[in-house]
Amino acid sequence: MSRLSCLLLAVVVGLAGLVVASPSASSFVLNGGQNNNNFTFSVNVANESNDLYFRLEGPIGNSWLAVGAGDQMAGSLIFVVYAAQDNGNVTLSPRIGTGHVEPSFDEDIDVDLLDGSGIFNYTYVVKAVCHNCRRWNSGALNVNTTKQPWIYAVGPGRPFSSNSKTASIGLHDAYGEFTMNMIQATGAGGVPDLATSMSGAASVGSAHTSFNYFKLFHALFMSSVFVFLYPLGIISARVFGWIRIHVFKMVFATMLAFTGFFLAVYMSTLYNKIIGLVVMIAIVEQIVMGFIYHRTRAEERTPKVKVHSWIGQGILVLGIINGGL
Ligand code: HEM
Ligand SMILES: *[C@@H]1O[C@H](CO)[C@@H](O)[C@H](O)[C@H]1NC(C)=O
Ligand SMILES: *[C@@H]1O[C@H](CO)[C@@H](O)[C@H](O)[C@H]1NC(C)=O
Ligand SMILES: *[C@@H]1O[C@H](CO)[C@@H](O)[C@H](O)[C@H]1NC(C)=O
Ligand SMILES: *[C@@H]1O[C@H](CO)[C@@H](O)[C@H](O)[C@H]1NC(C)=O
Ligand SMILES: *[C@@H]1O[C@H](CO)[C@@H](O)[C@H](O)[C@H]1NC(C)=O
Repeated sequence: MSRLSCLLLAVVVGLAGLVVASPSASSFVLNGGQNNNNFTFSVNVANESNDLYFRLEGPIGNSWLAVGAGDQMAGSLIFVVYAAQDNGNVTLSPRIGTGHVEPSFDEDIDVDLLDGSGIFNYTYVVKAVCHNCRRWNSGALNVNTTKQPWIYAVGPGRPFSSNSKTASIGLHDAYGEFTMNMIQATGAGGVPDLATSMSGAASVGSAHTSFNYFKLFHALFMSSVFVFLYPLGIISARVFGWIRIHVFKMVFATMLAFTGFFLAVYMSTLYNKIIGLVVMIAIVEQIVMGFIYHRTRAEERTPKVKVHSWIGQGILVLGIINGGL
């Protein structure tokens, strides 16, 4: 062999080595079925520094995805990801779990979103490195164990995007627990490749779905108000001229509507915030003005009473539309 071909061979072998070497990693994969719907989380524990590299991918059909180091919400270091606004990228929000409530953003967690992150092909792609994630104020990551506990959760399927790391997220649709082999994940630092199967990881139990009582009662209250109580109240006044019954129904329905509204605020899942708010403001206006107008006799149908009646019907239409959205 000539010196030149020796050199060429060396270069080729060297390049092949560079291309093939992928970072050590452990990967948790939930098979999402048909399309590119897998939920995958891979971790690399850098051996020359304190860094922790990770890759999180999952379908944008969920408003948010999250993984957390720990075996329950309380005390866990949680990475939440959701769509950023208008730029095809993702927002990565490091948070600390405090119990069965929304985890709170922690600005001390030094995590960087890396090149190659974004939303591609209906999939959130997060490539990141955290410089201080092996210990936090309420817990620690054991990098010398084959069974480090982790949790995951996915948000409800409704459109949501924000550039704010403190954005409030709705209650999970599903969550679960798994363990990872952190020794297998240790090696030269780097973002793991996309995994297509479990490696150095195992589910603990199966996925749980959250039953959302708030959502149920919100839907129940709002639909009985807008489909049943308000229409009956309007008929009482317009068709039968029963003003007392109308007032009673409207006040009762409004109390129910407010309860439903605050449930939606609590869940932070106002399906359509603007319409919902307009409807609630209009309802307050109707109640206040209703008491003033109803001093005039219904048969008179003064212009003010007509306006009251039109706004009332508008509320009904908007309320029903908002329910459908
Ligand atoms: C708005 C935010 C959140 C709220 C209000 C919330 C609330 C709750 C509640 C009430 C439970 C009890 C069981 C159930 O609902 O069926 C629970 C369990 C759980 N959640 Fe969350 N959660 C939130 C965010 C998250 C996030 C971001 C994760 C990310 C990993 C997560 C992971 C879990 C896990 C693993 C459990 C079962 C273990 C445990 O009880 O801690 N949650 N959550
Ligand atoms: C996008 O996802 C579809 C369905 O899984 C797949 O067939 C296609 O190759 C993907 N395209 C790219 C650019 O990744
Ligand atoms: C998303 O943001 C990260 C970090 O700023 C950047 O490196 C990446 O290129 C961005 N992705 C897209 C699709 O713009
Ligand atoms: C890792 O764990 C093993 C046994 O669990 C222990 O013998 C060893 O000292 C630990 N190594 C470090 C660096 O903590
Ligand atoms: C880190 O891991 C790589 C293999 O991924 C190995 O070649 C290197 O020697 C390790 N460095 C240290 C400091 O252990
Ligand atoms: C999703 O996961 C399944 C099983 O783990 C695997 O066969 C499939 O190739 C994965 N799909 C993608 C797009 O990674």
